[in-house]
Amino acid sequence: MERIMIINGSPRAPKSNSKRYAELFSRYCPVETDYYNLTKRNHRQLCELMAGYSDVLFVFPLYADALPVGFLDFLKELEANPPARKPMVSILINCGFLEYSQNEIAIEMMHIFCRKNDYRVGSILELGSGEAILGTPFKYVAVRAIKRLARSVAHGEHRTIKATMPLSKRLFIWASTYYWTAFGRKFGVSKSRMQTMQIEDGRLPDLPLAGE
Ligand SMILES: Cc1cc2nc3c(=O)[nH]c(=O)nc-3n(C[C@H](O)[C@H](O)[C@H](O)COP(=O)(O)O)c2cc1C
Repeated sequence: MERIMIINGSPRAPKSNSKRYAELFSRYCPVETDYYNLTKRNHRQLCELMAGYSDVLFVFPLYADALPVGFLDFLKELEANPPARKPMVSILINCGFLEYSQNEIAIEMMHIFCRKNDYRVGSILELGSGEAILGTPFKYVAVRAIKRLARSVAHGEHRTIKATMPLSKRLFIWASTYYWTAFGRKFGVSKSRMQTMQIEDGRLPDLPLAGE
């Protein structure tokens, strides 16, 4: 085992949950790691750098039951510019919903990519409740899973690990609705406003502000 290359495929990489998960991985990994954020302009450079690593860990979030589009673009670039020596590919995916099984389609996409391009798949961590877990008393669940992932990648004893908050769906939905409603209120946005399709593009309809 040499060094491990960690690539964060989150579109909000510098402020992402994936970055925090990658930091935990590095902290508990017995082998040296090098961390890279994916940006629009560094795809080719990362493909070139990859040749120097025995292992790569892709850390990314689930987006619309699949891979974030920037990460998909990177995989296309990697397909066109493969490194001379192909590293073992391990994966740490996190999703917002409680069930880690939400990640399975994205993991299948990664398996197809690896099969098609002759990469061996190493260890996988599928994390549910990934947006929230580090801010709750259940942080230990994520930390424990990442420790296991880090050791398994470092020792070449590959496995698939699955983890989430030990809550019922009902309680998770109640707690997350409470959290996001309070979060919106802090920025003057009501729950009904957040439930519109225009929430992200600034074309907000004339709906009541929080507390109206
Ligand atoms: C555009 C978008 C699509 C998402 N789609 C899903 C989804 O299909 N299923 C899910 O469980 N979480 C989904 N999420 C939640 C993210 O996976 C979750 O917030 C994750 O922690 C984000 O990680 P990051 O901070 O590393 O980007 C989505 C988030 C965004 C912004």
